[in-house]
Amino acid sequence: MTIRARILTVEEINHTSLSWFFRKILAENGDTMTDLFKKARRFTDPATYKKLGLYPYFLPFSSQIGPRMSIQGKETIMLGSNNYMGLTSHPEMLKAAKDAIDKYGTGCTGSRLLNGTLELHNELEAGLSKFLGYEDTIAFTTGYQVNVGIVESLTTEKDYVISDELNHASIIDGVRLSKAHRAIYKHNNPEDFERVLRELPQKAGKLLITEGVFSIEGDLNPLKEICKIAHDYDTRVMIDDAHGTGVLGEHGEGTPNYFGLGKDDVDILSGTFSKSFASIGGFASASEEVINYIKHTARSFLFSASMPPASCATANKATELIQKGDHLRDNVRKLLKRYRSGLVSLGFNTVPSESAIVPIIVGDLENNFRLWRGLLDNGVYTNPYMTPAVPVGHELLRTSIIASHSEKDVDDAYMVTPHKVSMTMYMTYLKNYLENLKAYFIGIQPGNLTYMESITEETEKSIENIVHFLADFFKKD
Ligand SMILES: Cc1ncc(COP(=O)(O)O)c(C=O)c1O
Repeated sequence: MTIRARILTVEEINHTSLSWFFRKILAENGDTMTDLFKKARRFTDPATYKKLGLYPYFLPFSSQIGPRMSIQGKETIMLGSNNYMGLTSHPEMLKAAKDAIDKYGTGCTGSRLLNGTLELHNELEAGLSKFLGYEDTIAFTTGYQVNVGIVESLTTEKDYVISDELNHASIIDGVRLSKAHRAIYKHNNPEDFERVLRELPQKAGKLLITEGVFSIEGDLNPLKEICKIAHDYDTRVMIDDAHGTGVLGEHGEGTPNYFGLGKDDVDILSGTFSKSFASIGGFASASEEVINYIKHTARSFLFSASMPPASCATANKATELIQKGDHLRDNVRKLLKRYRSGLVSLGFNTVPSESAIVPIIVGDLENNFRLWRGLLDNGVYTNPYMTPAVPVGHELLRTSIIASHSEKDVDDAYMVTPHKVSMTMYMTYLKNYLENLKAYFIGIQPGNLTYMESITEETEKSIENIVHFLADFFKKD
């Protein structure tokens, strides 16, 4: 008798009563089977970084988000929050939340369309319309749902959505969910935006969707040029100003207002309550007929429960406080200048902007985590960004100023960087900095520098600062 052995197919394995056994063997020996969970088993990066003490995510906080707060039982300067106006612990915000809970309870348990609309939602929408200068506003349960819902609601397979290549994930997902064709232009590049529009069918419906302030590096969108081009090509404009509302504009109206633009330039202005508004939820403001359409067709609005009472009441209160908050914005501007020039004078690579976001570009995953850890150990909290949020090789620490920070908070924070964080790390920065400048360091003593090319006075001063700092540092040691 001949015994013939053969390898079972995946289907056969799945159908045998011993399938669990085969699955186990295959799981342990590397398999050809399509187990969806295989990727989870092989996803070991978090564990590796945890072992190294460099895992930076899901860190639980044990106090209110404020300029200095308790993290792992230690007072820490918070440089990693979107609480730009510092309202999360404002007494009037706390009272608004408590009063709303007392009156309306903890949740709405239904969608806005049916059983989830409170007077509070209507008040919030009316207040925002007035503040932002639009006919009407719709409040969603998150900012993410705004982008996911609106693009899909307004476009069909005949239309085109044009999007900046660095748009936030919620915009990307909104575009993906819609049936429209997508066209991407180079980041903040009006010429490329125009090139893209020129190539699209003239008569097709077109929607530009992009950000006012870009969420990771905080750079501002050149909205004047972008909106003009959009209008020249009959393209509707939707601006997600999640990081601009509250911080920019005459009284916090956001990036369009900062550039002198209004509802005739930006058809839909959207945003979130999870940043300057110190709550949760999202909104879009537009003409009455557009909002009416979105309200009855956006699936992420219709098929999700509404903002809970406390969130709604705090967003409402924040709308009022933001408008009265010129002093808060002044403080943010003043501190930003101080903080950014402090970082630059020490050789850190950052991006100039009027927004409250200050990235420290590291350009390497492990160094980014090491710098994050070094800062945290020395009482400064930041957010490390890696792919897919930023391209590989552009890893950065995202830091931001909040209105309740003081000059001391900011000075303590940036001075920690070279003093306490590993000197090797700092030297890497310096090396990059000098390489960027095409300058050569000859010796680390003041006055002992030569350069390949002529450099600006400001840079010269910055290098001198670094040299003095290093000289002091080594003297102390
Ligand atoms: C530009 C941008 N849009 C939308 C969102 C989503 O907002 P939310 O947190 O309210 O879902 C964010 C949040 O990070 C964002 O940065």
